[in-house]
Amino acid sequence: SNRKVMVLPGDGIGREVMQANMKIIDWLAKYRSLGFDLSEGLVGGAAYDAHGTPLTDETLADSMSADAVLFGAVGGPQYDDLAFELKPERGLLRLRKEMDLYANLRPAIVFPALVDASSLKPDLVSGLDIMILRELCGGSYFAEPRGIDVREDGSKLGYDTNAYSTPEIERIGRVGFDLARKRNGRLTSVEKSNVMHSGVLWREVMIRLHGEEGEGVELSHMYADNCAMQLVRAPKQFDVIVTDNLFGDLLSDCAAMLTGSLGMLPSASLGDIDPDTGIPAAMYEPVHGSAPDIAGKGLANPLAQFMSFSMMLRYSFGQAEEADLLEQAVSDALAVKRTGDIMTPGCEQTGTDGMTAAVIDAMDRL
Ligand code: NAI
Ligand code: MG
Repeated sequence: SNRKVMVLPGDGIGREVMQANMKIIDWLAKYRSLGFDLSEGLVGGAAYDAHGTPLTDETLADSMSADAVLFGAVGGPQYDDLAFELKPERGLLRLRKEMDLYANLRPAIVFPALVDASSLKPDLVSGLDIMILRELCGGSYFAEPRGIDVREDGSKLGYDTNAYSTPEIERIGRVGFDLARKRNGRLTSVEKSNVMHSGVLWREVMIRLHGEEGEGVELSHMYADNCAMQLVRAPKQFDVIVTDNLFGDLLSDCAAMLTGSLGMLPSASLGDIDPDTGIPAAMYEPVHGSAPDIAGKGLANPLAQFMSFSMMLRYSFGQAEEADLLEQAVSDALAVKRTGDIMTPGCEQTGTDGMTAAVIDAMDRL
């Protein structure tokens, strides 16, 4: 097969949930003849321990030449005192930056079995399935000028710039229209054009793009502060939300809590489409970190990792049928067994292996 996947387990439970993910990959190879050409590399603390850097140039090059990167999690308390550039997280940030992964997809899905885990009332979230699309390479976290200056009177000035150019808005906007088309055809563009120039341009570009290439998509606009309110008031009104880096950071964390559990949240980060393969530069990873408090104990919930992999099937390789199958199996498995992080009375508690077995069992039945 020519689906080249670079596997980067990382540290802590990243390694454990990735190992579990391999069992899903084995199952697909065996029963669906769906094969991947897998390579594995070190990233984060594991790479630092072996090579003195959280990401070697070789691993970066291998990741960039692969069709997709499957990432676990990085970090751990033993690396807390390292210099900034050597910290495990720098490996992840360097990957995102070098691969120019500007489109961050964070779905918020409430599985029927987990309705009670949400921070909202069941009727507000039951059946929730929304997608937050966050611009990841520009805006307040990257645009220049930024820094801390010392002023003439000796006081300091810290500043960041929330700048967005037309091409930057166009490329994230295109991903938004594309996603909406693949889902329910509704896209909400979120900015603050009432008080910010970057927001005025953002809205202008989105309206133009909609006219040019937004066929079949219903576009609406919302101010970011209102969006935050609407997300906790009536989240099911949304399908796909597209927004900038800063607002997307806040709104996606907010949407995450609608689902109630960190161990359930997948993500994808996409870049430009390779004209030769038609596949976007892409990295898939759970939202959670390396969970040092439970690492090495076999307790980690592998479902965020599995759903990140299912996003890879869907968005990199067009395997929607297998992605649906895996997601349905996750949903079915939740009705039978739970890891500690999502445990509710009446359910059978299990660990990483037991949860994985329950998903595979559900796939066998589907
Ligand atoms: P964390 O996500 O690792 O853990 C937060 C809490 O959630 C912990 O109590 C943990 O046990 C629990 N948890 C997380 N994922 C879970 C899962 N799959 N199953 C069951 N329980 C789960 O965040 P924390 O503790 O702030 O950071 C730990 C380390 O991870 C730090 O070094 C941090 O820098 C790093 N980190 C890495 C990320 C990444 O690789 N993308 C993202 C966030 C943090
Ligand atoms: Mg955040």
